[in-house]
Amino acid sequence: MEIALKISFQYHQEKGNTKRKKFVSLKNAYHGETLGALGVTDVNLFTELYKPLIKEALKVEGPDCYRCSWNKKPVNCEAECFIHMQELLEENGDEIAGVIIEPMVQGAAGMNMYSPKYLKKLRALTIEKGVHFIADEIAVGFGRTGKMFACEHADISPDIMCVGKGLTAGYFPMALTLITDEIYNTFYKDYLEGGAFLHSHSYSGNPLGCSVAVETLKIFKEEDILKEVEKKAQYLEKKAREIFENHKNIGEYRQIGFIGALELVKDKEKKERFKSYERATYEIYKIGLEKGIIIRPLGDVIYFMPPYTIELDEIDFMLESCLEAIDEYLIKREKVEEKNRVLNNFVGFEV
Ligand SMILES: Cc1ncc(COP(=O)(O)O)c(C=O)c1O
Repeated sequence: MEIALKISFQYHQEKGNTKRKKFVSLKNAYHGETLGALGVTDVNLFTELYKPLIKEALKVEGPDCYRCSWNKKPVNCEAECFIHMQELLEENGDEIAGVIIEPMVQGAAGMNMYSPKYLKKLRALTIEKGVHFIADEIAVGFGRTGKMFACEHADISPDIMCVGKGLTAGYFPMALTLITDEIYNTFYKDYLEGGAFLHSHSYSGNPLGCSVAVETLKIFKEEDILKEVEKKAQYLEKKAREIFENHKNIGEYRQIGFIGALELVKDKEKKERFKSYERATYEIYKIGLEKGIIIRPLGDVIYFMPPYTIELDEIDFMLESCLEAIDEYLIKREKVEEKNRVLNNFVGFEV
């Protein structure tokens, strides 16, 4: 992420567009926790304390498909919510170096999945305005959304792409920042001209990391991992929808590729959330542990990002145990509420 931001900034400087110093990202975005990354991240928990040290990006209202202001679903929308990004780029386009985005799924925002039309519009406008499109594929790259890279859903190609995690199957710390030839050639100069992109770490280009990455890519090809994952993803979706969709406290089950997520609600009609102090998904996580599964709580959302090696019976176990954990929590919660109601009546004041 740091490299992407530095490259984008330096590119515009090299080209003489010295006004282009700002970055844009989406509200609730997560791009990591180093200082540069915190500037484009929008999760208070991580950013608040460090605000004095952070160079804050412009934050734009992005898609929120479950609670869509236009009352549309990603399948039938025209990414009307892009209007916010459009307004910002129309107004400040010539001061912006790049727009950074988690394509197709805003992870930490609550596995917020959105229409590829948003990305298409963003790609078109960033080209028009001479702004870099920086795709953060760290979480979604390498097959996670059903395509090798999430940008492929929109049939677009970014200027800069950040990848990690799946690059080494999550087993070795290795990341890449990919750039177009156009950007590369802007930096590449004859020795005497002194052109360079200066960024290095002790372990940059680590040979062991590179070997793990190369081997992982080989496995993707030789074992046709994407096809395997597609079958498992279909199974996950069918089963998860059967289990979760009619549940009175599950507002929505959403899935793209091999990422599934359910949103817990207190009231399905009103999409009303549980009170945050109840820590509903954390309580469910604790019950899940007793059943042998690790449920990842993310606000009101519980998500499934299984390893590609998972077997179908393990998917069953994962989903069924999760449902049991949710139901056990809700029963426990109902009992507490009932007790409070009795006490309220008895004492005459709210407990
Ligand atoms: C979407 C996204 N961007 C950036 C990062 C940060 O990556 P790293 O931990 O390699 O800095 C993560 C890590 O979870 C991520 O999910």
